[in-house]
Amino acid sequence: MDQAESLRKKAKERKSQMELQDERVKYVEGNPVLVVAVTSGKGGVGKTNICANLGIALSRLGKRVLIFDTDLGLANIDILLGLKPEFNISHVFSGEKRLDEVIVEGPEGLQILPASSGIEEVTTLSEATRMDLLAQFENLDRQIDIMLLDTGAGIGTNVMYFNVSAQYILIITTAEPTAITDAYAMMKILSTKYQEKRFQLLVNMVADEKEAMGVYRHLAQVANRFLDISIDFFGFIPRDPHIPASVRQQKAVITAFPNAPSSKLFESLASSILSMEIPRSPKGNIQFLWRHVLRVG
Ligand SMILES: Nc1ncnc2c1ncn2[C@@H]1O[C@H](COP(=O)(O)OP(=O)(O)O)[C@@H](O)[C@H]1O
Ligand SMILES: [Mg+2]
Repeated sequence: MDQAESLRKKAKERKSQMELQDERVKYVEGNPVLVVAVTSGKGGVGKTNICANLGIALSRLGKRVLIFDTDLGLANIDILLGLKPEFNISHVFSGEKRLDEVIVEGPEGLQILPASSGIEEVTTLSEATRMDLLAQFENLDRQIDIMLLDTGAGIGTNVMYFNVSAQYILIITTAEPTAITDAYAMMKILSTKYQEKRFQLLVNMVADEKEAMGVYRHLAQVANRFLDISIDFFGFIPRDPHIPASVRQQKAVITAFPNAPSSKLFESLASSILSMEIPRSPKGNIQFLWRHVLRVG
């Protein structure tokens, strides 16, 4: 190798090293945001209540939390919390509002981004509009530490989309065989079609931890046998009449009945969320989520 060639080689190595560093700088530049999808195969298993209560518990722990309501159906988080948002993400897509204008403040500093049907309208946006929006969305990440995605139930494309864009997938099931089967079906599709291999399981509406562990063991065993995935036991919430009672008051149980058994468990689950690490991968970057939402790149 002559000297010129060796110099060229060294310069090239330096350049790729710099590029690598640039990537790292880009990664750490923004405030890292933890993104957790709260999802289920079957509907009515408690996702929205779980999002609201975990969100409030995390706010109490000093975190800035945004709940992104991506469920296009009814019975949304705003109703649960007695809020009446005038706008939603579709008004951002149409250019009528800026993102920070449609985010509404919920109890205890919780922030809520209502989606309504907005997500479905993404396909009609021009590439230029999407790029504009992306720039706007990326500037928002500085105000949030944790984002909870309240997804719809089932294996529809939108639901899958939000699960894939999150860093952690929290699967909610009850002990009912139908809910367990649907949770399994969901993990199966997420792993075979979308290469998601790790899941957190929360068993809701059980008598006690023992019943929840039974559900977990059963699911983990079947998954171990037939799917190439790992499931962590994230925790459980007992069946608690305080929850429907709080829903009737349009409040989260943790607000209406702070000493209820479920409220205490929401507090302890919130601490578990605090120990979740933000991955050092594209998914650790909030841009990943917004790119997905906007179907960019
Ligand atoms: N741990 C629980 N104990 C008793 N009722 C619950 C519990 N969790 C949820 N519920 C009730 O189940 C219903 C569905 O909850 P919701 O959060 O709307 O589910 P999803 O968002 O999954 O459709 C609500 O009426 C709520 O009061
Ligand atoms: Mg819901």
